[in-house]
Amino acid sequence: MQGTAIAQPNIALIKYWGKRDVERNLPAVGSISVTLRELYTRMRVEFDESLGADTLTVNEAPDEIMLPRLASCLDEVAGVDRPRARIASTCNFPIAAGLASSASAFAAVTVAAAEAAGKTFDIDTLSSLAGRASGSAARSILGGFVELQNCDDAIRCRTIKDAGDWPLSVVVAITEKGPKAVGSTEAMEISRRTSPFYSSWVEQQQEDLDTARSAIAERDFEKLASIAEHNCLKMHSIMWASRPPMVYWNAATMRCLQTVRQLQGEGIGVFFTIDAGPQVKAVCLPEHVDVVEASLRSTAGVADVMTTGLGEGARLEEGA
Ligand code: PMV
Repeated sequence: MQGTAIAQPNIALIKYWGKRDVERNLPAVGSISVTLRELYTRMRVEFDESLGADTLTVNEAPDEIMLPRLASCLDEVAGVDRPRARIASTCNFPIAAGLASSASAFAAVTVAAAEAAGKTFDIDTLSSLAGRASGSAARSILGGFVELQNCDDAIRCRTIKDAGDWPLSVVVAITEKGPKAVGSTEAMEISRRTSPFYSSWVEQQQEDLDTARSAIAERDFEKLASIAEHNCLKMHSIMWASRPPMVYWNAATMRCLQTVRQLQGEGIGVFFTIDAGPQVKAVCLPEHVDVVEASLRSTAGVADVMTTGLGEGARLEEGA
């Protein structure tokens, strides 16, 4: 009645922003991401008939904040009449700060809960279950370059290139360690309802997905850089033009973008992307990772830098 799984967060290069079905948490657009290697969430789920309520610890401290969402994820995986569970999460990077901690958390808990419940699911079912809890978590079920497609009434995730076939690096510049002010679910709904740019975002997404997919197939870094930066800035433009406006950036975020532009001017293979938070993720060619890391580290306002390669999808932990 227990299972332990590990999952890595993923960073979207072509973003998911907006839901077409809030109830079932279905995204309005497809997306393409890379699963990371060095950052992880480990989730242990133990069902216990003698427990009166679900419990959660995050890095060994009791936590009430994530518990309701994790508990409903367990209901989806194991059924509402499941025994109560002891959930223990460990995470080696800041939580809820725009570093996709929900993606790795919900991918890991889905796989761990299926094991604890003695259920075997195929990849599509695991992605859909994780995606119901957090849209981006569906992509962390898989490794490498992952595309999430919107199908008729569901989602479908596929690895479109393995991590080893194009081993890019990602340098994450942390400009603020605290949790973000507005969660992505709420922010997406504000965008959908109020941003004048939202409908063109949805209309243009297929074109951006097609461009990124072919850039990845051809391993064309310049082409991927150009479409990923464009797609990221479009997503943030939607947020800026919403009412109330949502600006996740701080001054250091902007300085990191200038650092990336300067490196690009020097011929370094790097591009930026930013999610619903102030951190800047710089995707780069592995031969340029040292200079990218050093430049971001010395950018004013950067509190910390984490460097990672691309990794595999969520999996059960051996021997746990
Ligand atoms: O999965 P959520 O609800 O945390 O939404 C994630 C949204 C972005 O990170 C901003 C974009 C993405 O595709 O991951």
